[in-house]
Amino acid sequence: MIQALGAIWAALSPLLNIASPPSFSPAHDQFVLEKSWGVYSPFHAVEEYVPPPPGCKISQVNILHRHGARLPTETQSVDIISGVTKLQSAETYTDSRLDFLNDFEYSLDDNLLVPLGAIQSFRSGKTAFDRYSSLVSKEDLPFVRASGMSRVVETAKNWSAGFAAGSHHKYTPRLAVILNEEGNDTLQDNNCPNAASSHREMAQWLDIYAQPITARLNSWAPGADLANEDIHGLMMLCAFHTVASVTYDYEEGDPLPFSPFCSLFTESEFKDFQYSSDIDKYYSTGYGGRLGRVQGVGYTNELLARLTRSPVKDHTSTNVTLNSDPATFPLNRTIYVDFTHDSILIAVYHALGLFPTHKLDTTQPDPERSWRTSDIMTFSSRMVVEKLSCDTSARGRIKSQSYIRIMANEMVQPLAFCGAKDKGPWRGMCKFEAFLKSQKYARKNGKGDWEKCFLEE
Ligand SMILES: *[C@@H]1O[C@H](CO)[C@@H](O)[C@H](O)[C@H]1NC(C)=O
Ligand SMILES: *[C@@H]1O[C@H](CO)[C@@H](O)[C@H](O)[C@H]1NC(C)=O
Ligand SMILES: *[C@@H]1O[C@H](CO)[C@@H](O)[C@H](O)[C@H]1NC(C)=O
Ligand SMILES: *[C@@H]1O[C@H](CO)[C@@H](O)[C@H](O)[C@H]1NC(C)=O
Repeated sequence: MIQALGAIWAALSPLLNIASPPSFSPAHDQFVLEKSWGVYSPFHAVEEYVPPPPGCKISQVNILHRHGARLPTETQSVDIISGVTKLQSAETYTDSRLDFLNDFEYSLDDNLLVPLGAIQSFRSGKTAFDRYSSLVSKEDLPFVRASGMSRVVETAKNWSAGFAAGSHHKYTPRLAVILNEEGNDTLQDNNCPNAASSHREMAQWLDIYAQPITARLNSWAPGADLANEDIHGLMMLCAFHTVASVTYDYEEGDPLPFSPFCSLFTESEFKDFQYSSDIDKYYSTGYGGRLGRVQGVGYTNELLARLTRSPVKDHTSTNVTLNSDPATFPLNRTIYVDFTHDSILIAVYHALGLFPTHKLDTTQPDPERSWRTSDIMTFSSRMVVEKLSCDTSARGRIKSQSYIRIMANEMVQPLAFCGAKDKGPWRGMCKFEAFLKSQKYARKNGKGDWEKCFLEE
């Protein structure tokens, strides 16, 4: 399809004297609907997992995991229900794509994990067992924590069940700590009252991309009087309604039961919708969000504590009581798994320095941008930090050296900031000491940013 269009452009553009459309990088050539939903895309591995280089053994694993696919939040339900109600208030439809609304009843509940979210998290646990089984023993099971919201807790349980199933129930990790989201919680983003929200930037982009869609749907449903916000609701509904309708044991790549709401929009409109998710995350806890980065410091300092097997040093969102007790924050385990929300996972990427990007324009997407939430922040997204011990030979002598490697949705991160190579089997491998040194922002507790979270403005 894209190729055919390319050929047509090649033939027409000299005649029309216009530039051909920008070419897309190969990874984004093929349009896949469920990969255009930004943070509401189901999990998919962006690359295949790469085993460690020869001579290296994994010695510790830390996983930070977003909850699985869920129903809309209460705030999202407001826009969704408004759009559906307005469409249903029209007396007649001029396009048959809306006819299903004659007997459609909106019935999605709020917030909860849906079966697809449970399945993808279960599979994630099973994959973790398959990959890291040599690190597990009855005395050394994964240490599992979750932030206190139900969908996050359920995700942690389904992951643990998947891990146990992978081991044929020889190893059954248990959710050991549930962090209270009202208090200091390194796995939730409500600790910084002055932090930015992305509402303004999202509204700027919405006013541009939604305008023609609003006009079209209003002409299909005369009298509906939809506003741009309703379009955002209806496009989200395509994603939420679809993920909520999966009732079978979905495997990555299986066809999804797409909601009839999806057929109301075009490919390029979904690409614009995905961009609204990219803007949302970029301008909240991502690189464009004031005080976003500091919200990733608490987890980062916990990670550094585990990697160095020394007590947590953090003056941001750490819960000091829990983190000074070996029962609730052990330092002698080999696999640690934490369950959280997208905003914190993004804040941690930001604090660590992953997915650096140029500023996102709120009026025009850059087709070459690397900041794509459909890849980096799907439902059930995961960041995996591996500590490795490698034998290297120098002047004929074998010596052992520790390294760090990070994968996000299986993509090996370049870790240029601590000197990793960008090619070959050692791609993305940083010397342990260099990695620790690179994490100055976290080790300095956000260099004054945490205090700004609470200053009267
Ligand atoms: C997920 O966990 C819930 C209970 O916590 C359970 O009812 C459900 O069957 C689990 N799903 C999978 C796929 O493991
Ligand atoms: C970790 O330390 C605790 C408390 O000292 C001990 O009970 C447990 O067996 C240790 N676990 C491992 C994997 O060494
Ligand atoms: C730390 O966690 C404990 C146990 O959940 C809780 O009672 C306490 O309020 C928390 N402290 C802070 C500062 O959030
Ligand atoms: C979280 O911890 C910080 C400092 O460690 C403290 O100032 C703040 O009051 C705590 N927040 C809550 C909700 O307890």
